[in-house]
Amino acid sequence: MPGQSDRQERLRRRWDKQAGSYDTQMASAERRFFADTRDWVCSQATGEVLEVAIGTGLNLPYYPDDIRLSGLEWSPAMLALTQRRAAQLGREVELRQGDAQALDFPGGVFDTVVCTFSMCAIPDDRQALVEMARVLRPGGLLLLADHVEAGPWPIRVVQAAIELVSIPVSGEYWRRRPIRLVQAMDFAIERHERFMLGMIERLAARKPPA
Ligand SMILES: C[S@@+](CC[C@H](N)C(=O)[O-])C[C@H]1O[C@@H](n2cnc3c(N)ncnc32)[C@H](O)[C@@H]1O
Repeated sequence: MPGQSDRQERLRRRWDKQAGSYDTQMASAERRFFADTRDWVCSQATGEVLEVAIGTGLNLPYYPDDIRLSGLEWSPAMLALTQRRAAQLGREVELRQGDAQALDFPGGVFDTVVCTFSMCAIPDDRQALVEMARVLRPGGLLLLADHVEAGPWPIRVVQAAIELVSIPVSGEYWRRRPIRLVQAMDFAIERHERFMLGMIERLAARKPPA
């Protein structure tokens, strides 16, 4: 659909433009809202790991040393910053530019797939999850963390109001709940935590064995 791809191209360029200020923008949200989420997610990764929408690589310091990491991101400017961070940390990571909604990897090759704070930004979250499930091996682990729809209804109303602007302008969704899609794919939820009035949600879910 041409209109759809124009919109996605505009969103991708938007991420390019904000790449340089992304870490600074995130710093206060990280401190105030995310708690130990990056550590919680990354410390559970094992084996061949794919991080989808890796951004500027803010998760890199939190992965165990003994994994093999690949990272995918559609913004070249964000990807370049991940590359720089990886070099600074001395962390080997195979990076490629690509679309989370059409992963350029064969099926069943990863032991772990990670996606943090990006399910709110990927245009088609359902399709991205279908792709993550496809590239995971049977019995592999999916690790997700994001800001999601809050528990209390007054906050949900505010989030709905924010979305009236944030979705058309920046493609940012505030009321998605990836866990529902993961459950619908018959993954077994092994760990699940939700805090900050339900607005931050993190989970570890196992793909069914073959
Ligand atoms: C809020 S940032 C999160 C970055 C990183 N995961 C983190 O935890 O800091 C969202 C990222 O998703 C990327 N993104 C959005 N849609 C994408 C898509 N369809 N394919 C790949 N990356 C995408 C953006 O370029 C951006 O880097």
